[in-house]
Amino acid sequence: MQKEIHEQPRAVADTLEAVIDGGIDVEGLFGEGATAALRDASAVLVLASGTSYYAGLVARFWMESIAKLPCGVELGHEYRYRDSIPDPRQLVVTISQSGETLDTLEALKRAKQLGHANTLSICNVRESAIPRASRFRYYTRAGMEIGVASTKAFTTQLVSLFTLTLAIAKAKGRLDAAAEAAAIEQLRFVPGSIQHALNLEPQIQGWAERFAAREHALFLGRGLHYPVALEGALKLKEISYIHAEAYAAGELKHGPLALVDSSMPVVVIAPNDALLEKVKSNMQEVSARGGELYVFADLDSHFTESEGVHVIRTPRHMGSLSPIVHAIPVQLLAYHTALRRGTDVDKPRNLAKSVTVE
Ligand code: G6P
Repeated sequence: MQKEIHEQPRAVADTLEAVIDGGIDVEGLFGEGATAALRDASAVLVLASGTSYYAGLVARFWMESIAKLPCGVELGHEYRYRDSIPDPRQLVVTISQSGETLDTLEALKRAKQLGHANTLSICNVRESAIPRASRFRYYTRAGMEIGVASTKAFTTQLVSLFTLTLAIAKAKGRLDAAAEAAAIEQLRFVPGSIQHALNLEPQIQGWAERFAAREHALFLGRGLHYPVALEGALKLKEISYIHAEAYAAGELKHGPLALVDSSMPVVVIAPNDALLEKVKSNMQEVSARGGELYVFADLDSHFTESEGVHVIRTPRHMGSLSPIVHAIPVQLLAYHTALRRGTDVDKPRNLAKSVTVE
């Protein structure tokens, strides 16, 4: 897992290679007929499971703010068994690292039965079942991922979903040449920023020593960083077996605040985005109950350490791409906490890398 975490600058650079070199060439990237399908899409419906589902939750923000297209995100196993109102003009996007997850594959089949012809798969394994069953496909280039807890597959999914967002915007005439060039310039910096985040490892190891002695943890984030909080909690529970839950920070007062006392570490993803002041007031709610805060904040967030407030500075704020960079420290925190607890990081109990049963 540690090797795979550290491969992320390379994996993301490889996944972005075609975009950096050739721009948003919609047909070249997504396949013949993609321009018309993306141009005519009335909405996006993302279907996925686990970490891939969290990638979809990040993409929802991008789809609605950049491509200006409504976007729903649903767990495959929920979607396949409920009545839904199909819209044949919706683009159905499945996200799967393995391409074999039964819940996602069956959800895709269900969408097709309901009349969805425009299906697009984002996948790390060529010719696996989900991309084969999709009209369009886009392969992440993470290389083989062996650790059960997904790391480099997640960040390569995110840059692929950002690319898809730009492609939809372009197909719809909502991305002019200057905006496309600016977005590609932003993407060019991502591998370097990931490396910068990886360099925080020694500081995160210090936090992990404290986490290893705990049995519960809360993760908070808002907006684009709420899915990063979800992913951080998932990583921690998957490999260290610490009970971790994530909340959109505004939800704290509606229940989880009752759990906060001095024995509950609270991890906050708090970069300098539009919601920072809101997050800061949520953090005060934690401090007032004696909770200990562990804050990942970028250079522009202006946090200072104080009693019960620990801060690790992440790279300079990356705008919309910030969740990609903030995925790294939560992976490292889970990894080092698990290592200190002596669990089998690569093969956690009760879990499988590819879940091909229901
Ligand atoms: C399993 C893995 C997770 C993964 C999920 C979805 O539960 O342990 O790491 O996120 O399946 O897998 P997929 O291959 O569809 O992305």
